[in-house]
This record gives sequence, C-alpha cells and structure tokens, in this order.
Amino acid sequence: MTDVRLAELARCLPELRLLVAPGDLEHYGRDWTRRWTPAPLAIALPSTIEEVQAIVRWANEKSVAIVPSGGRTGLSGGAVAAKGELVLSLERMNRVLDFNAVDRTLSVQAGITLQAVHEVARGYELAYPVDFAARGSCSIGGNIATNAGGIRVIRYGNTREWVAGLKVVAGNGELLDLNRGLIKNSSGYDFRQLMIGSEGTLGIVVEATLKLTDPPLPSQVMLLALPDMEALMQVFELFRARLSLQAFEFFTDKALAHVVEHGAQRAIDGDYPYYVVTEFDAVDEQAQQGALVAFEQALEQGWVCDGVIAQSEAQSAALWRLREGITESLAPWRPYKNDVSVRVSAVPAFLQDMQALLAREYPQIEVVWFGHIGDGNLHINVLRPDEQSEEGFIAQCEHVTRLLSDTLRRHGGSISAEHGIGLVKRAYLEGTRSAAEILLMRGVRQVFDPNRILNPGKLFADI
Ligand code: FAD
Ligand code: MLT
Ligand code: ZN
Repeated sequence: MTDVRLAELARCLPELRLLVAPGDLEHYGRDWTRRWTPAPLAIALPSTIEEVQAIVRWANEKSVAIVPSGGRTGLSGGAVAAKGELVLSLERMNRVLDFNAVDRTLSVQAGITLQAVHEVARGYELAYPVDFAARGSCSIGGNIATNAGGIRVIRYGNTREWVAGLKVVAGNGELLDLNRGLIKNSSGYDFRQLMIGSEGTLGIVVEATLKLTDPPLPSQVMLLALPDMEALMQVFELFRARLSLQAFEFFTDKALAHVVEHGAQRAIDGDYPYYVVTEFDAVDEQAQQGALVAFEQALEQGWVCDGVIAQSEAQSAALWRLREGITESLAPWRPYKNDVSVRVSAVPAFLQDMQALLAREYPQIEVVWFGHIGDGNLHINVLRPDEQSEEGFIAQCEHVTRLLSDTLRRHGGSISAEHGIGLVKRAYLEGTRSAAEILLMRGVRQVFDPNRILNPGKLFADI
C-alpha cells in the first residue's frame, strides 16, 4: 500500500478489507449516472460499527473525504467518488439483526438490499412496502440517505414513513442511536428524520429499524392506453375515487418503444401516446366488477382508448415490466435525467408549461418521460443524439434544467422528487429551497460533520 495514510489505516484496522485495484476503484467509484470518471483513493469495506467509527476518525485526522456507498444504483451522482475520496461501502454489513413481532419492526444493517428486506418481511407474513425496480441491488442505507420513493408511494408514502430508528456514525465518529424504534417520542428535534434524505452528508447509516405492515390485499394489475395527459389525469381522479389504488404509474409511447426493444412484450395492439399501469385492491368479485365499471366509464368518456387486465401473476409481472423495465432499457444512452415533482393538484398546469418548454428546447432530441404521476412525480430522460458531443449535450440539458427549475418554482414544485440532489442537481437547489433554508442546511451540516469529510460536494457545493 503506497499511500501512507492508507497504510496507517490498514495498520490501525488489520481486519478491515481495503481495495485499491484499478478495477475495484472503477467499480465502486461510480453510480448509475456513469457521467464522472471514477477516481477514489481506495475502497473500505468495514464489517462492524467500530470499524466505521475508526475510519471516520482516521478520515478527520488525515483530511480524507469519505463517500458512503450502498448499491450505487443512485441516479444523481451521490455515491460518485471522482476526487480521491475513500469509498466506504456498507456492502459487507448486510445482516438482519432482529425481528420484533410485537412492534412489527425489523432491524437490519445498512448494506442489506431492499429485496432481502422484502423477503425477510414476507417470511414473517408481513411486508416492507417501499418498492422499485432497483430492489435487487440498492441498499436500505442508500434508500434512507435518498428518502427513496418508488411505485407504491401513492399507498404507503416514501422511505421516511418506514424508519422507526437509526444508528448513525456522525462526521466526528460519534455513534448516534436515533429514536430507538419508538412510535411516540416528543423530546425535541428528531435527528432520525434529519438523517433521512441527507445523502450521506451528515452521517453514515449503519443500522436501521424498519416498520413492517400487513401484506398487501389481493390485487389486480391493469394497463391502459390513453389519448393525452388531460385524459390521464381524469382517469386518475376517477380511479382514485372508485378503487383502492396501490400504484398508478404512467409512461409514453417512446418509453414503450424502448422497453419493447429491450425484450418486454407489448400488451395492447395499436399506437397510443400515453399508457398507465395501475394496481388496485381486488379482494372479491365485487371489487373486480367495480374496476371494470370504472374502466368502462373512462372508455365512454373517451379518456381511455384501450386496456387490459392481467389474468395471472405472470401477466401482472409482464404488465409491470413495461413500466419497471424502462430505466434499464434507456441505460445504454446514459440519459440526462430530471426527476421533478409538483403537488398532484398542480400537475395539469405544470404539464402544460413543461411540455411547451421541452418541445421548444429539445426540438431535435428524443425525450422520454414516465413516472409516478399519482404522486405528482415525473421522470424526464433526455437522450443524446449520436452526432452531439457529450459536453455540448450536458451544457444544453443544464440550460434546460435551469429553465425547468424556474417553471417548477412557479408551480411550487421540487427539482428532486426522489433521486436526491447529489452532483447532478446541486446547481438548482436554490430553485426549490430558499436561501434561508440552504443556510440552515449548511449550518446543520457543520454541526454533524465539522470537518466536512462526509460526501463533500454532494447536495451543495462545499465552500
Ligand atoms: P447509492 O447509490 O449507493 O447511494 C445513494 C446516496 O446515498 C449517496 O449519496 C450515498 O453517499 C448515500 N448513501 C448510501 N449508503 C449510505 C449509508 N449507509 N449512509 C449514508 N449515506 C449513504 N429511486 C427511487 O426513489 N424510486 C424509484 O422508483 C427508483 N427506481 C430505480 C430504478 C432503477 C432501475 C435504478 C437503477 C434506480 C432507481 N432509483 C429509484 C434510484 C436508486 O435506486 C435509489 O436512489 C436508491 O435509494 C439508492 O440506493 P443505493 O444503495 O444504490 O445508494
Ligand atoms: C423509476 O421510477 O423507474 C425510477 O425512479 C428510475 C428512473 O427514473 O429512471
Ligand atoms: Zn421513480
């Protein structure tokens, strides 16, 4: 080990796994954005909380920045290490620690995958309801650090709702045991909630106590084809009033073309501009009949052009693949991603402005959008044309994002609904948060991480 700082870390922590091979630096130094060239100092894979604390103390002493790292499925550059940082991967801290049947909580180490949590909860005949397509690789620590949302927010809310307690190593190496699984705790500031969504800039989540809930009721999955966004919002209102929705997700014909090209099966013949995958409780025949009546009403109104209801689990999975497979199908383009939200009631007016903006600013560029429309959350994916340079493309997208940020400000929305700010959106934070708020955020950061060793440059530029 040639770096003297690393050599000292290895001496202090002889059991610590440290990686410095170029392939490892590349693998652990980037996330799903793949925009920045990975250049970490090394990768540390601790297996205990004590090791995490010792690494943080060492980093303070040696002024080495740390990038907390989960599954690196992040879409905002939050887990990118491109400036000689030490990547602290929680990958080896992936155990289930405790299940409490009375409290209906599951305590886990932060590096466990979301899917593993789902499976363990299912084994206890309960459910952890946060869910999205990266479930097999993203970590609970990363979900907490980004306050991840996903496809069931309309029913269950974001990650924030499902964290009963956290153990966190703060920027000074101190271990904090936050909220300890309490349901009621009115004893001052809730640091657990402050940690959720802090993108690794306040502390390293090492353990989490997650709330579990009843398994979802038997459900049905329906795919709808729609003529325009106005109709889509009408259908949303109708379905929300008539059915008990578990999910209401939309995508465009362009998204469909990509996902089908990638191997998914088209379920509706004909070409339509918009599609919705919705899942709703269907406990008995009456509930199923209610869904059909709502569908027929939408058809009569001209809000829906066609639709199918899955008749088996395999068909449900195939319909879901049309929505969930989009991100992976677009990955070869390394799309420039916007992840925006407005209140659901503001969606129609925002959409009008947003569609006009995108049509004006990207006349020759393919823009694919989809997302969690029932939560007011749209994902805009901009694909670089072959003939355009990467630099020119990013500059153009950044210009449009600034305009989008102004549009969002007018509609009271957010530049980051669920993916986090990271590196990608830090220049637009002030469009969503006031100067007073950002000053307070920086102050909080200073308290938890006085030497700014935790993920510097993410969320906001470090000054
Ligand atoms: P990473 O990418 O490793 O890190 C993300 C951020 O968290 C970084 O800032 C990192 O420093 C920090 N961090 C990681 N672990 C810790 C820790 N233990 N302590 C402190 N900070 C930490 N996101 C959604 O919200 N909804 C979706 O529907 C959704 N769908 C996706 C689908 C696909 C196919 C993909 C690839 C991504 C999707 N994402 C989605 C984005 C991503 O999966 C989430 O942001 C996820 O929460 C990131 O988890 P991770 O473990 O991969 O975190
Ligand atoms: C999704 O909703 O599929 C995710 O947030 C991923 C993405 O935006 O690409
Ligand atoms: Zn999403």
